[in-house]
Amino acid sequence: MSSDNSTQDPYFQKLFAERIGGENYGKGTEIYKFEKIKRAKRNALDAHPNRQLLDFGIGENDAMADSAVREVMKQEVDLAENRGYADNGVAEYKQAAVRFMQRHFGVELSESQVNHCIGSKPAYAMLPACFINPGDITMMTVPGYPVAGTHTRYYGGEVYRLPLLAENDFLPDLDSIPDDIYARTKMLVINYPNSPTGRLAPQSFFEKVVKLAKEKQFIVVHDAAHILLTFDGKPTSFLQTPGALDVGVEVHSMSKGYDMIGWRMGFVAGNERIVSAFSDVKDNSDSGQFIATQKAAAAALDDDSIPQRINDKYRRRMEKLVAVLKEVGFDCQMPGGSYFLYTPSPTGCEGGESFAAAEDATRYLIEDLGIVTVPWDDAGAYLRFSVTYVAGSEAEEDALMEETKKRLTAAKLTFA
Ligand SMILES: Cc1ncc(COP(=O)(O)O)c(C=O)c1O
Repeated sequence: MSSDNSTQDPYFQKLFAERIGGENYGKGTEIYKFEKIKRAKRNALDAHPNRQLLDFGIGENDAMADSAVREVMKQEVDLAENRGYADNGVAEYKQAAVRFMQRHFGVELSESQVNHCIGSKPAYAMLPACFINPGDITMMTVPGYPVAGTHTRYYGGEVYRLPLLAENDFLPDLDSIPDDIYARTKMLVINYPNSPTGRLAPQSFFEKVVKLAKEKQFIVVHDAAHILLTFDGKPTSFLQTPGALDVGVEVHSMSKGYDMIGWRMGFVAGNERIVSAFSDVKDNSDSGQFIATQKAAAAALDDDSIPQRINDKYRRRMEKLVAVLKEVGFDCQMPGGSYFLYTPSPTGCEGGESFAAAEDATRYLIEDLGIVTVPWDDAGAYLRFSVTYVAGSEAEEDALMEETKKRLTAAKLTFA
């Protein structure tokens, strides 16, 4: 007889750790944002099976990795020398990362200041293990990528939220942080080009961060996942800032700038002692990415035409999107970078619905208009449009934008 009885708790229900909900693990009734979007998409498709969904909700590159990178992978996969544990990574990738940092940003690093990671997400899961004791604080910008905060809490630490507001140019207000918070802060996580706001940080902000880090004694983690998708001027690394190498690390990802999301490659670069601590924790967590993948990623890092092509494509799509959204009443402008457009949410429709939060606007746009976006209500009501939608040609992009404009115009959105 099956022992599976879904109405009865297993004997280990009371054993789940508090950090994931303790004995209530798996019993929550809260529905998360992305599940709500999925449900609204299902409703939209059921109600209008023949209407195309215009999907600006996808946060992943729409193209495969460059064919040259796939070719390297095909060859490396057949080499016996690549078969084993990669531990903290092969020299080929570290050296390519060192060359990359030098070429793009003029940042001179040694191999000991670089360590690969299996995508940047696990790096954010591991860095808190290097610094956070119970009661310590990680300062995180909100809205933002939450992984370092989640793991800070797993270690008994706390997250101090720094809202990114339009009136501050989507930079955290570092002057408003009370001294007792600074006193307990071990890490500050920042991210520019910022996801989801698309804003860039001026050099003066990075300089202020370095100064404060030294003064208040915390380390800085700069999330550079979108750095090669910079549209306004040349991409800027936090590590270019004088003194940055004394206070922190920058985490790079192959995902966005190289169409290599599923390949799981990135690197942590910067202060040697912090990189070394990260490597120690990593060594106790995984055994490194497949060496063939590391070598293919090294070939990608050495080819600047790949990120240039990807940047050109998303810039073009972003320009088209901004033009259409402006025409139908959105108050938006070209972001400095990232493939996300973050724009104030509509508040309703002329003579019709009104939306109390971005989440309500998102549901309406999906169910009534067949347009998918992601809502952000953490610091004001905003919608995120991603330009990673699937379109095989520029003509298809134009057709999709035309249809977007038609539906949004008909909806007569209001922005009170
Ligand atoms: C801001 C930001 N940082 C980091 C990541 C993690 O990227 P990956 O683990 O693919 O390197 C993402 C992914 O969505 C992101 O948006």
